[in-house]
Amino acid sequence: MLTDEDDEFADAGAPAPVDNGLVDDIMESRLRAIVYVARYHGVDLDRTELRLVPGAALPAPADLVVWLRGSGLWAQADYLKWRHLLRINSDEPVVLLFDDGSAAILTGIDRERGVVFLRDPRGAPNELPVAVDEARIRQVWSGEAILVRPERKDATDREPFTFAWIFGVLFKEKGLLREISFAGVVIAIVSVAPMLMVMMLIDQVLAHGSLNTLVYITDMFIVLWMFEAILTYVQQHCVAHLTVRLDTRLNLHMFSRLLSLPIDYYEQNPAGRTQYRLQQIYQVRAFVAGQLLGLFMQFFQLLIILPILFYISAYLTWLVVAASVCIAVTIFLFLKPLRAYYKRVVLADAEKNTVLVESVHGIRTVKSLALEVQQRRAWDSKVAEAAQLRLRAMRLGAWPAALTIPFQRFVERGVMLVGGYEMLMSPGSVTFGSLVVILILGSRVSSPLVSLVRTLQDLEEVRAAVHEIQIVLDSPPEVVNIGRGLRPNLKGAISFDDLTFTYPGGKSPAIRSLTADIPAGTMMGLVGRSGSGKSTIARLLQGINRTYEGYLKIDGVELREINLPHLRRSFGVVLQDNFLFRGTIRDNIIASRPGLGMEEVVRACRLAGAEEFIERMPEGYDTFIEEGSPNVSGGQRQRLAIARALASDPRLLILDEATSALDPESEALVNANLRRIAHGRTMVIVSHRLASLLDCDLTMVLDRGRLIDLAPHTVLLERCDIYRTLWFQQNRHLTQGTAGALPAPDAVAAQGD
Ligand SMILES: Nc1ncnc2c1ncn2[C@@H]1O[C@H](COP(=O)(O)OP(=O)(O)OP(=O)(O)O)[C@@H](O)[C@H]1O
Ligand SMILES: [Mg+2]
Repeated sequence: MLTDEDDEFADAGAPAPVDNGLVDDIMESRLRAIVYVARYHGVDLDRTELRLVPGAALPAPADLVVWLRGSGLWAQADYLKWRHLLRINSDEPVVLLFDDGSAAILTGIDRERGVVFLRDPRGAPNELPVAVDEARIRQVWSGEAILVRPERKDATDREPFTFAWIFGVLFKEKGLLREISFAGVVIAIVSVAPMLMVMMLIDQVLAHGSLNTLVYITDMFIVLWMFEAILTYVQQHCVAHLTVRLDTRLNLHMFSRLLSLPIDYYEQNPAGRTQYRLQQIYQVRAFVAGQLLGLFMQFFQLLIILPILFYISAYLTWLVVAASVCIAVTIFLFLKPLRAYYKRVVLADAEKNTVLVESVHGIRTVKSLALEVQQRRAWDSKVAEAAQLRLRAMRLGAWPAALTIPFQRFVERGVMLVGGYEMLMSPGSVTFGSLVVILILGSRVSSPLVSLVRTLQDLEEVRAAVHEIQIVLDSPPEVVNIGRGLRPNLKGAISFDDLTFTYPGGKSPAIRSLTADIPAGTMMGLVGRSGSGKSTIARLLQGINRTYEGYLKIDGVELREINLPHLRRSFGVVLQDNFLFRGTIRDNIIASRPGLGMEEVVRACRLAGAEEFIERMPEGYDTFIEEGSPNVSGGQRQRLAIARALASDPRLLILDEATSALDPESEALVNANLRRIAHGRTMVIVSHRLASLLDCDLTMVLDRGRLIDLAPHTVLLERCDIYRTLWFQQNRHLTQGTAGALPAPDAVAAQGD
């Protein structure tokens, strides 16, 4: 059932198998087994994607699972028993992890003979699998296995976020729900049953003066109360578990969806609105796990209470039920208008939140431009709008609450009057005891209905909240099949072939019919006026926008065919404004390559010109960078970002105005290193300052998305008007005759350093 290929593991991107050293051999066996199984499902794994826990000798099953999942397969580490093995679908290979750390591939099962067929992943491709029975396998294997399948189509992660999805998650916890319901039923019985005793108490004990019965009833009461207390505790315990599980699932789902959204989404949606929308998830969770579950419990009680009431007096119970139905109908009539209002309330709140988050994020600009007044005005108007809408919604919501009061009061007190009348008119039909019980239990018929009112009202708000969450979580992800695609070993040759690209919603193309070839290892400058499409080229290269026409190839492979994470890992990108995470300098630099050694970190920092200031810091590489990196200057942050991009030693490095925020001295430092940085990789450097591109092998000149010229500096000076104009605008002190021969002012500065 498995196909053997001669080049079985040849292009797994791995070093040749190591035989010197047991650990290496065992490690190799694990990795080969995983690669084999993935290949069986049509996925070529890339070993650089295997993230090992630093310090661990062997990849743990969890590491292997993460690796497989990251490559678009469904994978799970599990403990299996022999009888499970025999039941496995024998068409798909399974990886068994032996006790000594090595691995085998289960390739077939013979249930009649009671044997499984195992392959040694280190064996030759044409080696036949060995039949192994239970006794033999038990000596080396205690049950650890990794199951792999093609990606599940029904994975809940891909499903739209709806109430059905949330309930799907909830109903996965069948055991907990069963326990909660069981406790609910018993609590309902235990709390309602004493009412019958109250009836006895009034009718018999008080009427006939039977002290014994009173003592007996008291004992029963005490036992039932204790029982109820214990059950309530158990039920709360289960509810807490259920809430936490639901919460965890929601959180995991939310974040993984968030990370899979394309940059386009973030550009089109303000951060504040996204944040607000996602916060709604907690409201939804509280509603489902709190309110809805509570309501469910109350209806359990109703199921117990109603038969008792009917038993005591069908006539009075019908009155109670009729009044309760009136309550429900009143509420029903108000539902639709309330729904419309709450939708507007949620929208207004989101708008309000956008202003808040924008002000907090942009507080520096707000302060320095003295925009406080404008921001406050914007905030005030949003607050007023939201408040007004909420007020109107609440006012409308007050109507059903008020209109239902007469019915509620009738259930609570009116029934007593009717019952009294009954007692007077036909003595014996209703006892005094049963009237008291109907009064007490009758209000418990209406209270679930009143909660229903509240829940239905909230449901409107929650429905609107689910809709808000949907806007974020159900936006199309960046690439549907993120794990698929080719994983070529990139060298960095770029070729544009009649490339045209228009931003979604854009009127005219940002790049028009661009055709050019950039050999691997080229240091290429990219210049042009503002808006000419320089950053767009950088974005296209990173696969941020993939809806272009024509071809964009890296090493001859069309970019859209390449596995996206693989592509981005082969790239380093430094933008004009870079984000540093909270953590030490070292953490930031090794962010994309956990486990990178200190030497590599220092090398990257030296290349980026960051070494000197890091060493001057009191804690050096362990200096903690706070949120928003206030403790490093703009120029220092930029150099750290360059170091971070260099740490992974990318084949292709894109610097988009990376040095424009630097002071002349730091810029000169980085520029002086550009040649060394570019060594062994392709570089695309976008810069407004042409002088910093003098070292480039080629410079591409763009204008309104068109390629104007592609040549070295001296050639461009001679033949490209746009380039010449830009150059002399920036270097007025140079005359046309001498320009080409002179090195850039920055380069001079750097040499003097
Ligand atoms: N995210 C976007 N959505 C829509 N249009 C965009 C987007 N980014 C850029 N554009 C448009 O595409 C064109 C090229 O923009 P691009 O950012 O590539 O220019 P640039 O050469 O990098 O300019 P600058 O030197 O100012 O950075 C511009 O007309 C711009 O308005
Ligand atoms: Mg730009």
